[in-house]
Amino acid sequence: MLDPRLIVALDYPEGAAALGLVERLEDLCCWYKVGLELYLAEGNAFIHELRHRGCSVFLDLKLYDIPNTVAGAVRSVVETGAEMLTLHASGGPAMLKAAVLAASQFEHPPQLLAVTVLTSMDAEQLTAIGIAHSTGAQVLRLAQIAAEAGINGLVASAAETASLRKLYPATTLVIPGIRPAGSEIGDQRRVATPAAALAAGASYLVVGRPITQAPDPVEAARTILMEMHESVAAALE
Ligand code: C5P
Repeated sequence: MLDPRLIVALDYPEGAAALGLVERLEDLCCWYKVGLELYLAEGNAFIHELRHRGCSVFLDLKLYDIPNTVAGAVRSVVETGAEMLTLHASGGPAMLKAAVLAASQFEHPPQLLAVTVLTSMDAEQLTAIGIAHSTGAQVLRLAQIAAEAGINGLVASAAETASLRKLYPATTLVIPGIRPAGSEIGDQRRVATPAAALAAGASYLVVGRPITQAPDPVEAARTILMEMHESVAAALE
């Protein structure tokens, strides 16, 4: 039942709880996302622990700084062995190119993923920060900046996935904001079911609270995996 397209977001305040979930999901999930909450609490040691257990790690640090600093951060991350690393596309072409150049100097760098518009943002929030485009248009604009900088991985919502897949057939599309039917949306705004995101062309789905906050996380992960498999079966019919 293990599906390498499922990435579980370990949004926990400390490592023990996160590892507890990793142990429970051993047969179901091989990819874990470590975000700021857990990374700032546990640091690189936690990434090493996950790698030691045979898990693949998506380090979601969403880097956003001047090019020199971001390049340095990319170099520092290489040592952890994390397979994916995020940075904000809105950091601009120079920052993205500096990150690509820094990564290119290593034999096994993490795949860089450019975060377009956060899935928690809607048109109203974009307007509040001075962006007059629709969320869809802004995602496409940032995706183009990322592609031109040489980045071949994007984080976006399922709403933009079909357009991105058409424009960038070979790009890794990592899609958070996944909510199985009937689950709590929380602070997310641009959400979709696992099946809808895969049908639109997602490469990976990032799922946090629908699993971590479920009364039975193993059962919740199984249900999501089942839906992922059914979507493939439906697409093949
Ligand atoms: O709990 P939930 O499923 O909403 O978690 C989604 C995860 O994906 C969170 O860890 C969040 O930081 C991350 N994420 C996101 N939107 C992005 C990029 C990352 O929700 N654009």
